Amino acid sequence: MSRVIPIIPAPGMPGATVTATGTGTATLTSTSAADGRVAGSSAQTHDKTHGLTLLSALPPLSVYIHVPWCVRKCPYCDFNSHEKPAVIPEKQYLDALQADLEQALPSIWGRQVSTVFIGGGTPSLLSGQAIDRLLSLLRSHLNLWPDAEITLEANPGTVEAGRFQAYAASGINRISLGIQSFNDTHLGALGRIHSADQARVAIDMAQRAVPRVNLDLMFALPGQTLAQCVADATEALRAGTEHLSMYQLTLEPNTVFAKYPPVLPDEDLAADMEEVIEGLASAAGLVRYEVSAFAKPAAQARHNVNYWEFGDYLGLGPGAHGKISFPDKIVRQARMRQPDSWMRSAIARDGSHVSEQRVLTGAELPFEFMLNALRLRRGVACSLYTERTGQPMATITKALQKATDRGLLSADPTILQATAQGWRFLNELQSLFL
Ligand SMILES: C[S@@+](CC[C@H](N)C(=O)[O-])C[C@H]1O[C@@H](n2cnc3c(N)ncnc32)[C@H](O)[C@@H]1O
Ligand code: SF4
Repeated sequence: MSRVIPIIPAPGMPGATVTATGTGTATLTSTSAADGRVAGSSAQTHDKTHGLTLLSALPPLSVYIHVPWCVRKCPYCDFNSHEKPAVIPEKQYLDALQADLEQALPSIWGRQVSTVFIGGGTPSLLSGQAIDRLLSLLRSHLNLWPDAEITLEANPGTVEAGRFQAYAASGINRISLGIQSFNDTHLGALGRIHSADQARVAIDMAQRAVPRVNLDLMFALPGQTLAQCVADATEALRAGTEHLSMYQLTLEPNTVFAKYPPVLPDEDLAADMEEVIEGLASAAGLVRYEVSAFAKPAAQARHNVNYWEFGDYLGLGPGAHGKISFPDKIVRQARMRQPDSWMRSAIARDGSHVSEQRVLTGAELPFEFMLNALRLRRGVACSLYTERTGQPMATITKALQKATDRGLLSADPTILQATAQGWRFLNELQSLFL
């Protein structure tokens, strides 16, 4: 029997619900050669324990670090974010992060880390010194690529002169700003702590400090008209950003907006907004390369692309999720959500800060892979399916045929890519792989 479990809220993005079959538990074991390849295993052989075939190579590895505090909780937000105490316990947090990382090392031993994402919550609440200690910790413990993409999420209401410069001096090379809108009325309705003018100042500061800046905006906001949506997207693009994330506002369970729902634009208007945003972005040279992401050439978020290509990520910090592959299994993990409990448990160094850990079953992998890969406009090479899941193509042949027959999937046998129709009805397409 299948059951619904909440999983893979790809860190830094609105959450997702997945229907999965079965569960399992596992202990982590050390992995393989330094380049991520499994020595002496070029072919896939069947592993009876988990219903998986062996992986011939381990995927690229990213690191996600969760900073759980915000100035105050936004009414639409279901991220693991908590109103900050009077003083953020930076030392305690970093000591716990160090303990969390050190306990995770055996699971990623020798592997190179290609991207780091410090998300939240509001990481820009941390001082320059705290981010410096955090990055030193990563460098001293991990095999971090010299040109690794290192992103920090920032809220325009927490930006101080000099802080972005300090982050950059420590090694942050990409800032993701939570702008949401340039309209003060909408910012007020969203409970944001900043004005449109503060957002403009933050963009300028971020662009001066680091080479790469992403702007997060939301559309289909309470009472928003098409013209107001156009104004928001136009201003974001005029700022010359290389990367834009546009999320349709969703009412998430257990939020203030779920309890007191605001009136939102209807489906047709939201669809018009999406279309107009894509047109404006395209005219400005930004390609929609993922459901919610637009980028100039070579400016795609490498960290997020790794999620969508079913790469690995180590999740550190309260509530962080991770996915780590081993030659014979793929493990998902989650950390304790409450900042104080996570800090206490991590410091105890007894593994109790890991609240969930399970091996993905062979039956879950097709959907997990397709859920991510089909979000990419260009799709992925067919060979990536077996490479990343250890499953033979035969496990999805029927679903592929059905999806192609319905015109949802490209008929090109070398790629897994949604057609324009499949892109429009992505949930329907993804659910064929359940
Ligand atoms: C963790 S937040 C970003 C950083 C920072 N905490 C901030 O809000 O400025 C990630 C992004 O997810 C989007 N998001 C959060 N909740 C959402 C919701 N209910 N519907 C759509 N997008 C949402 C917002 O655009 C937000 O910037
Ligand atoms: S600032 Fe960001 S993470 Fe914090 S509550 Fe608001 S949307 Fe959520």
